[in-house]
Amino acid sequence: MTQKALGFGVDIGGSGVKGAVVDLRTGVFVGERVKIATPQPATPEAVAEVVGQIVDECAWEGPVGITLPSVVTQQVARTAANIDESWVGTNVHDLFTQALGRETISVLNDADAAGIAEVAFGSDTARSGAVIFLTFGTGIGSAFLVDGTLFPNTELGHMLVDGTEAEHFASSAAKDREELSYKKWAKRVDKVLHEYDRLFNPAAFIVGGGISRHADKWVPLLTVDTPVAPAALRNRAGIVGAAMAAQDHVAP
Ligand code: BGC
Repeated sequence: MTQKALGFGVDIGGSGVKGAVVDLRTGVFVGERVKIATPQPATPEAVAEVVGQIVDECAWEGPVGITLPSVVTQQVARTAANIDESWVGTNVHDLFTQALGRETISVLNDADAAGIAEVAFGSDTARSGAVIFLTFGTGIGSAFLVDGTLFPNTELGHMLVDGTEAEHFASSAAKDREELSYKKWAKRVDKVLHEYDRLFNPAAFIVGGGISRHADKWVPLLTVDTPVAPAALRNRAGIVGAAMAAQDHVAP
């Protein structure tokens, strides 16, 4: 296998920082995924150090793609809903270049990364027409896809639904926090999807994040007319999309 067929992705989340070598032809991990708890407080310096440890542990020397739960434009983090506020305004390319001692780094939003991985390695649905890809985790992430092309940095998790930000009541963290049954939580997700549907009229929703593993428990309870498909890549998607972005030099 040539080095070019391999990439490296790191997914930075509220609870864990995860990285793996990715086979870019298949979207499958090569070797173990390494996970380290997100340092608290999750400042840029502390997180960058953990990313460095993961890259070292995997003895990876090539380009690195990194996801953040933030809007990222011109390689600067613009928001920090579920990470330390000091990320706002941080030049993430410079931060990780220094921490990892290499230049070839792409940083992008976590849901955008997962969306592009789903386009490459998921079902045809992700590549057909206007699709809204969503991740349910600590927050709600979104990626807008048109025939497989990404419109980056949409932030649907923060859209007000009945006066409350969608992710505050319908993320999977909200389900855990409030100890909601799938039935109760699905009602909330349904409300959010109805609102997205009303405003954006996509051909399909694709739902990802860890909780998509249990899609059979809640997707059938949704009443929105637009088809809702579980993501094929589940929570592998962020790492795979990050590795793809680094290889393609995608840097929103
Ligand atoms: C952030 C998004 C992110 C999502 C999922 C939201 O709180 O604002 O940028 O994609 O959480 O992590």
